[in-house]
Amino acid sequence: MNPWQIVREGYNPAEAADNGNRFLIGNGFMGIRGTLEEYRLENQVAINLAGVYDRAKNQTWREPVNAPNGLYASLENVGNIISHTQALDIRYGIHTRETMYTHAFLKISRFASMAEPNVIYQQIIVEPKNSPITLVCGIDADVWDINGPHLMDMHSEGGEVLKVSATTYEQNIPISTSETCNKPHDELRTMGHSIYRVFHIKEPFVLDRVITINAAPVFSTYESGLKPHKNTWETLWKNSQVKIIGDENAQLSLNYSMYHLHCIAPRHGDNVSIAARGLSGQVYKGAVFWDTEIFLMPFFTLTEPALARKLIHYRIHGLAGAYAKAKEYGFDGAFFPWESQDGGTEGCTDFNIVDVFTNRPVRTFFRDKQIHISGDMVYALCQYMDWTGDEKLWQDGGRTLTEACAKFYLSRAYQRVHRDTLEFTDVVGPDEYHERVDNNAFTNRMAAYTLEKAGMKHTVRKPRINNGIIEQFDGYFALEDISLDIVRSRLKHPKEYWGTQSGVAFATQIIKQADVMALVNLFPSEFSDEDVKKNWLYYEPRTEHGSSLSACMYALGACRFGRADLAYPFFLKSARADLDGGGKSWAGNVYIGGTHPAAAGGAYMIATQGFGGLRLNGNQPQLNPCLPESITALTFPFMFQGKPMEAHITREKHSIIS
Ligand code: BGC
Repeated sequence: MNPWQIVREGYNPAEAADNGNRFLIGNGFMGIRGTLEEYRLENQVAINLAGVYDRAKNQTWREPVNAPNGLYASLENVGNIISHTQALDIRYGIHTRETMYTHAFLKISRFASMAEPNVIYQQIIVEPKNSPITLVCGIDADVWDINGPHLMDMHSEGGEVLKVSATTYEQNIPISTSETCNKPHDELRTMGHSIYRVFHIKEPFVLDRVITINAAPVFSTYESGLKPHKNTWETLWKNSQVKIIGDENAQLSLNYSMYHLHCIAPRHGDNVSIAARGLSGQVYKGAVFWDTEIFLMPFFTLTEPALARKLIHYRIHGLAGAYAKAKEYGFDGAFFPWESQDGGTEGCTDFNIVDVFTNRPVRTFFRDKQIHISGDMVYALCQYMDWTGDEKLWQDGGRTLTEACAKFYLSRAYQRVHRDTLEFTDVVGPDEYHERVDNNAFTNRMAAYTLEKAGMKHTVRKPRINNGIIEQFDGYFALEDISLDIVRSRLKHPKEYWGTQSGVAFATQIIKQADVMALVNLFPSEFSDEDVKKNWLYYEPRTEHGSSLSACMYALGACRFGRADLAYPFFLKSARADLDGGGKSWAGNVYIGGTHPAAAGGAYMIATQGFGGLRLNGNQPQLNPCLPESITALTFPFMFQGKPMEAHITREKHSIIS
């Protein structure tokens, strides 16, 4: 098995959406869905731009913008498909498709340059078999949007350079796609605003095309673009690669996860973060959730601290949005958006789901009640500072952020007259199927942590504990305690939403995702291995794992009590979320498909913190490994307080070398 190669044999149009995620390439500035070159908007083709948002005319929510597709290419009169292969080189982010038609062979390769953020290189090889073939390639201006259209005043130009330019509806942000190539075309063809070159091909033919997004056209060849691109990838892998000996599937799956994290890291922009669906399209409004701070930060903190700092900085910069949100609800301080967009503004609406039975919007409370979000920011900031030693960030806005979040919690807290503890009532914890609950254990701990870090002396209500099991929120243990299968059997529609008051999970102990398990993992020193075990055994059978964020927390938990065998399937589930595809694509009637960066980040956490057991003990990194049977050795580089280190783990011994 080649641990750097993803291959899919055979042509199956029904897989177009999954392949769009599976074969994604990207360079942080943009993500290019892994769709075939001849596909158009109905197959969810997208060149998705990081951090560029727009609200289209008469639409309620904003979403990121897709650029006109400069990668379009198709052959005319080639007959039927005889064989077809789609492949992705995940070491260097190179996408290739090879198709044998009745009358020609076609191979197209492409990569989004890691060295030149605005540039995509494409090489088209056509070998006619017995008759001349026509190649049509250019810029498809019909852009796929979920809540569009976003591109106004579109116009196109053709000549030595092809160009389609437009401006966004809301803020007039200029968007352009340009294309150059290294051979003269036979004719130009236009369709609406789309513009194509046409080549009549009789001999084997190689065409290099360079596509630039929001930048001047580049005249170059595929080969000359490849070298700096590969060199940049080499450096990224040198600083991050986790080497797994003994288990090729685990190695491939983890490489794949880390490939995705590198593809979506916003290295080039300021005040940009990472969306919950990465750069795979407009799903979830291109918004940044707690996913970034809790599930992605460990990867970047350990392998690319400068980028981790940028991610925190996005939140510091976004404080104005968090102040505005707190004020909107009558609170003080900073209440961070549940779905953060450009400038840290809230993108989440009150009605996130459409009921499949009535087709009416359903009130959800993620925006106003999922208050752990502010504490998650403080947690990520402090973890970052502990690992990197970057105390300066505290002065550069970290302290302000922490104090503002603490202020928010104080103004949001509830205190009974004769008690001195603070409570947090009417909240939503990580388990979104139980909305408007009191004293969610995870939320209370995050609030307490924030108050501690801000230097405030307040006691927050601790969770109830029954035989070592932490009650997820007040009254949880009294809910109907039935199996996941029974709850599933009560569904009346396959796309029905499980949460909200009328949902199948609401009155039961069935939860959407790790909640208590997230708590015990994020605060490891406060829970013994035995505590973790008891809670794992209780909550895991009651968890639907309806979010891709869930598996990682259960894998980490299982490693705590030495059960790598229980952790391993959750590791594969996390690492292969986008490789295997087929995850949840619908919440009610809303499409939520796309890539799952938090699962990818989770896979890295499992490998390093779970299997490797990497943790800070006081001020020193230490290992407490729990290797699955199939893995004989594990090594990985990481940065600690400005110094490169390397963890070496086998079943017999382990060490950290600096
Ligand atoms: C999960 C959230 C998560 C969001 C974005 C939801 O399904 O419940 O915890 O932040 O997806 O990934």
